[in-house]
Amino acid sequence: MRIASLPDFLLQRIDRANGGPVNRQIYQVIREAVLTGSLPAGLQMPSSRDLSKELKMSRNTVTYAYEQLIAEGYLETRRGAGSFVADTASDQITTLFSHNKTTTNTKVEPTGSSGLSQRGKQLLKKAGVSDLQWGAFMPGVPDVTLFPSKIWSRLQNKAWRRSRADLLTYGDAGGHFPLREAIADYLRVARSVNCKAEQILITTGIHQSIDLIMRMLGENGDRAWLEDPCYWGTRSVLQSQGIQPVPIPVDAEGMCLQPKDLQVPPRFIVVTPSHQYPLGTVMSLSRRRMLLEYAAAKKVWIIEDDYDSEFRYGSRPLASLQGMDTNDRVLYMGTFTKTLFPGLRIGFLVVPEKLANAFATGHSELYRGGQMFIQAILSDFMREGHFASHIRRMRLLYAKRLNLLLQAIEHHFGDQLLTGGGDAGLHLALELPPGSDDFAISHAARSIGIVARPLSRYYMHKATAKPGLLLGYACVPDDQIQPAFNKLAHIIKEHWPQTKPSAANKKRR
Ligand SMILES: Cc1ncc(COP(=O)(O)O)c(C=O)c1O
Repeated sequence: MRIASLPDFLLQRIDRANGGPVNRQIYQVIREAVLTGSLPAGLQMPSSRDLSKELKMSRNTVTYAYEQLIAEGYLETRRGAGSFVADTASDQITTLFSHNKTTTNTKVEPTGSSGLSQRGKQLLKKAGVSDLQWGAFMPGVPDVTLFPSKIWSRLQNKAWRRSRADLLTYGDAGGHFPLREAIADYLRVARSVNCKAEQILITTGIHQSIDLIMRMLGENGDRAWLEDPCYWGTRSVLQSQGIQPVPIPVDAEGMCLQPKDLQVPPRFIVVTPSHQYPLGTVMSLSRRRMLLEYAAAKKVWIIEDDYDSEFRYGSRPLASLQGMDTNDRVLYMGTFTKTLFPGLRIGFLVVPEKLANAFATGHSELYRGGQMFIQAILSDFMREGHFASHIRRMRLLYAKRLNLLLQAIEHHFGDQLLTGGGDAGLHLALELPPGSDDFAISHAARSIGIVARPLSRYYMHKATAKPGLLLGYACVPDDQIQPAFNKLAHIIKEHWPQTKPSAANKKRR
């Protein structure tokens, strides 16, 4: 269908808060419109000056997109006349179609406007990854600048001196065995996980662990109960494997199931029991028991995402759900993303003993393991006690940063706003008064270089979504927390909804 108004068409598709660089989005939308014929060949494009005015954006943003489109041949310039949509149809294909006119099978296979599969399109539609991964207030990112790089490089040099071929070639099924042993020892003590080294698989992180579980245990169309709200990455990986996510609301005790939900057992239940993501609640013991009993009775797999429970301030970390399971229904996932650094891309998956060989083989077949050299360094890092001492050091630092952020919130809002989940992890959820537009706030914050991800985006059901902001404090230097929050507070106040906040809106710490 031909586009009536290019500015309106662009405005409907550009997501300033979460869609990545806007110039790139303009480029992509126009490119797709040219390829699908919605902007037909020969059509004159508005000048970059006019378009930027209509979009209320800087001219540079539009010019960048136009230049890219011209460079790639989607637009062409005619001297003195401006830019026009180029004729992009391939000669060969045009000829082919004209020959095929009389045959019955003339339908061009539109696998997607840019050739993507349904799952590919779905993945892009819900894409959650941010283009900025550092600074105030990026959630879930540790302070990577304080990683003990000298120790790591000493261990790395030691590993090079050993320089064995088996560390430089493809990986063992399941990963470097000494690292699996070190992780098993750590998990037994710190997280009360019941496991042997053989049950542990080294993955590139929780994303890959979920991917492997779905490929090994899921069938197309299987259902998975997910906490609502939940981590966007979990949803993306599940859906891209043809698994249907079923959102289950979360209350102060964790996943809150109703009798009607229990009537149709899913194949998987995915939970973050130690620190619900993103709200931060801890699943109560009775809910844990209920889930385990249900999973055992109905042969459901529970997937426990234990992504950041090393960082608890005040109380001891809670034991894992896996440690309470006596029926081998829990698959436990952990990661070094929060404890060490995200770019390391090492995580681990603990599977029931009876699945261990199958999963190790599946892992090798699918991903062709490697990284043995890095895994060997990490196992020495753990064995020599550096992992535990780094966690201890960072725990103190993050507790201090959390307090600085809480003080800044209190300074601006007193007890007007609720904060949740701040007693653990690397972020807190700041709830906003009902009726707040957290997308608009997030967008305005992003335009001044502050990341404040909108809480409502993490819900699957818009109707039940609560407005709020996810504020990560771990990767923000102490002296930047207050100044950055001052700016954010100003934006929140500018967007304060007209209706008065409800009486229930009292601060919880
Ligand atoms: C709840 C949750 N699970 C998993 C992950 C990602 O873990 P990984 O980096 O190991 O893939 C994150 C990252 O922020 C997260 O918040």
